[in-house]
Amino acid sequence: MAHIPEIFAPLMTQKYRIKLYYGGRAGGKSYAFADSLLLLGRKKKLLIACLREIQDSIKDSVHKLLCDRINYYGLSDYKIYEDRIDNKLTKTRFIFKGLREQDSQKIKSLEGVDIAWIEEAQTISKKSWEILEPTIRKDGSEIWISMNRLYENDPIWMAVAANPDNRTWVRRVNYYDNPFCPEEMLYLAEKCKHENSKNYQHIWLGAPLTQGAERLINASCVREAFVPKIVSTTSPLIIGLDIARFGDDKTVFCFRKGRLVMGFESYSNKSNVDVANIATNLIQEQHPLRLFMDIGGQGAGVYDILKDRGYGEIIRGVYFGEKALKTDRYYNRRVEMWDKLNHWLMELPLPQLPCDEDLFDELTIVNKKFDSRGRLQLEDKEEIKKRLGRSPDKADALALTFAEPVYDYGIPKLYGNGKVSVEEMFSLAEKEKNYSW
Ligand SMILES: Nc1ncnc2c1ncn2[C@@H]1O[C@H](COP(=O)(O)OP(=O)(O)O)[C@@H](O)[C@H]1O
Ligand SMILES: [Mg+2]
Repeated sequence: MAHIPEIFAPLMTQKYRIKLYYGGRAGGKSYAFADSLLLLGRKKKLLIACLREIQDSIKDSVHKLLCDRINYYGLSDYKIYEDRIDNKLTKTRFIFKGLREQDSQKIKSLEGVDIAWIEEAQTISKKSWEILEPTIRKDGSEIWISMNRLYENDPIWMAVAANPDNRTWVRRVNYYDNPFCPEEMLYLAEKCKHENSKNYQHIWLGAPLTQGAERLINASCVREAFVPKIVSTTSPLIIGLDIARFGDDKTVFCFRKGRLVMGFESYSNKSNVDVANIATNLIQEQHPLRLFMDIGGQGAGVYDILKDRGYGEIIRGVYFGEKALKTDRYYNRRVEMWDKLNHWLMELPLPQLPCDEDLFDELTIVNKKFDSRGRLQLEDKEEIKKRLGRSPDKADALALTFAEPVYDYGIPKLYGNGKVSVEEMFSLAEKEKNYSW
């Protein structure tokens, strides 16, 4: 088929209970799954569930990708709602759910599903999979899985792909299999190949990591974020403010708009009133939607002054050591913010950071571990300080911009060569005889 790379043809033409595609970044998995589902949904009434482990908002889901593809191909038979997508002619419906939030009652709504697409399936827990699999029980129903393996023993990998039976289709796909792979991705992949073979194997070839004490943030992701790219954004300004605790620490402001970090401002030896005055000027001149600040030490005083000046709507105080928003996944607030930052660095389209070697060192020196409850934890700040020779003030200020979700207007996705017309794409699909639908 012209629009969907050959390697993905079995999605539409073969009958398997489970179809799993895994591999590194930019293999074309998400696009091929989206296009195939849109195409199938135009032929026949289907209930399609787009699932992931955690979906805090519809923005975490593939809703946006599906909308982009509908608009790109001009598929006017699809009607887009905030939380679902319907086909006016066939009555096909796409729904979007996080598996973590499903209890035994809610999951019943998935019983009529014809195709369940699990995206980013490396993050699916054993429990979620064990509840989901028997729920997708309609005659002829299929489970489509796309993933980049994280560890050797990712639960869904162990359950589905480690010993696949004859009802299961497993295929690896990488960026070099994707005829639409953007030039920039090819460049980054080649660059990573030369710089760090281990990262290349994981990020671009989809090889699982070996578990152990490891850096939280991947150095090559930071390098990729340093590569200049045209990032324009309509996203609102978020400011992170890390306030010095000790004489040798710096007070740092970080300025971020969506996928773009515009810069940092660092200050030494400032009083609480000085810092509050700087923050007041920034709020008045730059109109941030949020200013997240560390209120662990000195910061509490700065917070009080700003609140007193009437900025309570804009400022939010954060204790690094306090309970995470997601207590079951994170040891404390600090690691939660850092992990959000980590994901932001890995997601597409690639983000842009100011090229700054201090920032590089701070981001890539931090080790992660897991506590006895299996929750992600960062090593002690004192340990980091010992190895780095200072505290990671810029990185903390950047992490603070991820303290809570703030609505992000995002930027448009890149499209492939733009040469395939809708008519071409669907006429070729019509010619296929052995549909399973
Ligand atoms: N069918 C397609 N048409 C146009 N562009 C595509 C297509 N498939 C992939 N691409 C391009 O390749 C990039 C990577 O594809 P994606 O589906 O996001 O990969 P993966 O999910 O495997 O990481 C996309 O951002 C897009 O630019
Ligand atoms: Mg993807």
